[in-house]
Amino acid sequence: MFLAPLLLGLSACASASRGHGQNSTFYNPIFPGFYPDPSCIYVPERDHTFFCASSSFNAFPGIPIHASKDLQNWKLIGHVLNRKEQLPRLAETNRSTSGIWAPALRFHDDTFWLVTTLVDDDRPQEDFSRWDNIIFKAKDPYNPKSWSNAVHFNFTGYDTEPFWDEDGKVYITGAHAWHVGPYIQQAEVNLDTGAVGEWRVIWNGTGGMAPEGPHIYRKDGWYYLLAAEGGTGVDHMVTMARSKSISGPYESNPGNPVLTNANTTSYFQTVGHSDLFHDRNGNWWAVALSTRSGPEYLHYPMGRETVMTAVSWPKGEWPTFTPISGEMSGWPMPPEQTDIRGVGPYVNHNTPEHLTFPPPPPLPAHLTHWRYPIPSSYTPSPLSHPNTLRLTPSRLNLTALNGNYAGPAGQTFIARRQQHTLFSYSVTLDFTPSTADEEAGVTAFLTQNHHLDMGIVLLPRGAAAGAAASLLPGLSPEEEGEGEGKKGELIPHVRFRGESYIAVPKAVAYPLPRAWRRPGGKLVLEVRAGNASHYVFSVGPEGRRSERRTVMEVSNEGVSWGFTGTLLGIYATSNGGNGTTPAYFSDWRYTPVEQFRD
Ligand SMILES: *[C@@H]1O[C@H](CO)[C@@H](O)[C@H](O)[C@H]1NC(C)=O
Ligand SMILES: *[C@@H]1O[C@H](CO)[C@@H](O)[C@H](O)[C@H]1NC(C)=O
Ligand SMILES: *[C@@H]1O[C@H](CO)[C@@H](O)[C@H](O)[C@H]1NC(C)=O
Ligand SMILES: *[C@@H]1O[C@H](CO)[C@@H](O)[C@H](O)[C@H]1NC(C)=O
Ligand SMILES: *[C@@H]1O[C@H](CO)[C@@H](O)[C@H](O)[C@H]1NC(C)=O
Ligand SMILES: *[C@@H]1O[C@H](CO)[C@@H](O)[C@H](O)[C@H]1NC(C)=O
Ligand SMILES: *[C@@H]1O[C@H](CO)[C@@H](O)[C@H](O)[C@H]1NC(C)=O
Ligand SMILES: *[C@@H]1O[C@H](CO)[C@@H](O)[C@H](O)[C@H]1NC(C)=O
Repeated sequence: MFLAPLLLGLSACASASRGHGQNSTFYNPIFPGFYPDPSCIYVPERDHTFFCASSSFNAFPGIPIHASKDLQNWKLIGHVLNRKEQLPRLAETNRSTSGIWAPALRFHDDTFWLVTTLVDDDRPQEDFSRWDNIIFKAKDPYNPKSWSNAVHFNFTGYDTEPFWDEDGKVYITGAHAWHVGPYIQQAEVNLDTGAVGEWRVIWNGTGGMAPEGPHIYRKDGWYYLLAAEGGTGVDHMVTMARSKSISGPYESNPGNPVLTNANTTSYFQTVGHSDLFHDRNGNWWAVALSTRSGPEYLHYPMGRETVMTAVSWPKGEWPTFTPISGEMSGWPMPPEQTDIRGVGPYVNHNTPEHLTFPPPPPLPAHLTHWRYPIPSSYTPSPLSHPNTLRLTPSRLNLTALNGNYAGPAGQTFIARRQQHTLFSYSVTLDFTPSTADEEAGVTAFLTQNHHLDMGIVLLPRGAAAGAAASLLPGLSPEEEGEGEGKKGELIPHVRFRGESYIAVPKAVAYPLPRAWRRPGGKLVLEVRAGNASHYVFSVGPEGRRSERRTVMEVSNEGVSWGFTGTLLGIYATSNGGNGTTPAYFSDWRYTPVEQFRD
């Protein structure tokens, strides 16, 4: 990875200010971008390190783990779900809201435990039979192979968490499926076999929608039960109850909710789904998810991100959480330490990224696919094309089968998270399509039903689908070179297509200017967020910046929805046809420009 000088408007890193014994200042989100449903632990036995897991839905590798020794610098150390044999059924999930929901990460008996749910969200009203609750464990979270295959247990619900009681009994607590709930349930479990006892309702929440995300903490003779309520939108909140017995009855905290930004004007909305942990000084912290949208809740392409707050929790009393905002004040932090082992980048550093795809695989750890990839479709630096990533097209495009399914052949797609309000993302493309509808390009992808794509695609001359104008904006007919060929002849076009539940601009396709179509001519494809509400897609010949043309300015509302966050990446598809022409991508650049915090 290439490190360039830092840009204006961004500080070098997490930039928590500290002083010995003084309260700290730190900034939210601590994990910008698609990192929802955080679950974090402090593990003194492993060099006093904090570890956090996040939900990943259909993204693969799945269940990212970040680690920190100072609560300021958080590094991607790997993924719990890193091999297909661990959980083959991720290949078959139906719908983009399916996949891995809300992991709970815990450390017990020198072992890391990760309990989560593989959700099939396609028939939510009547059939939960395919919702699969699972347990992974590892001795060494820095080593992908250390994570076990999934052990399955029977529970009609989600958001499951393990808890080890003082008498040696082990419990799973989870949120019961909402068509029959809503309530929090608990059963005894054998974590090695998945055998569960009888499920009992232990708390119904405070009356908010969908009590979920339960976590149990033993403190000062009490069992404290933390939960989320209100749904994961603007009514989201964190509530608490406690009991002298693990199985209840749980009494609600009269001060509920303990954390929410509902009914505020904060830029940080949807605060909920929290987890608590303490540091080596015994000071408590909490993480939660939040959406940087303001109460308007229209523009939030980065989706649900991870935020952190300080918690004051005196003995025998209910805890007090500091409300979430962009700039936070909290307990003194451990001294800065950046010697974390691990494969990935620091998730909260503003480092420009330049990938050149040296051989052999693996590709950089923070790059992600949608469900399992076909490994041979992604070749870094094939002999004929050094410093490129060769993509072999999938028949399915990014929508695939009605936005639900993708089947075993999958989708050729690789991406990184959008992590900054303002950024630019660009790649250089070497692609000579020869069969109709062959396409390769860049995308801002949220789900199979929500993506904005700009691709180079082979289309018949004069047949540009939906094109209002046949000329790329800003080009004269002479520059474009149109008219020199036969109508119906297949020529490469640049096409923008959007897919969303809300109205997005109609597809446009422009013939590529003849001057850009010379053999070996490469194109630069760019997606840029110049402000907090719009993306700009542009294309031009490599090395000739002044010829770059805007293809589409488009609102990011179309990719502000649901559970995931926008991925910026590249794809190659035959759009259902028989094309097999590979696309060679190089000079992958993601440049952070600005992070909005209020
Ligand atoms: C996916 O879900 C849809 C309903 O949303 C259903 O019609 C279809 O059969 C499902 N496909 C598979 C492969 O399960
Ligand atoms: C799972 O639990 C449900 C409801 O408690 C029960 O009907 C079903 O038989 C169980 N399945 C297995 C495989 O144990
Ligand atoms: C939860 O609500 C159900 C009714 O929906 C009730 O039967 C049950 O007793 C309640 N459980 C608790 C623990 O409050
Ligand atoms: C937000 O306001 C609505 C309407 O007054 C109220 O019903 C709801 O309980 C409030 N939510 C929170 C978390 O305070
Ligand atoms: C330091 O932070 C904690 C946690 O937010 C807070 O309870 C405490 O009052 C703060 N102390 C000072 C001196 O600001
Ligand atoms: C954001 O940028 C788009 C063009 O990319 C422009 O149309 C829109 O007016 C801008 N919005 C604001 C608030 O500046
Ligand atoms: C995706 O491919 C299908 C054919 O497999 C095609 O009907 C559809 O128009 C394509 N959608 C997009 C957004 O490219
Ligand atoms: C793809 O190839 C098959 C077998 O050669 C042929 O039957 C089919 O018509 C082709 N499809 C397209 C879209 O060209």
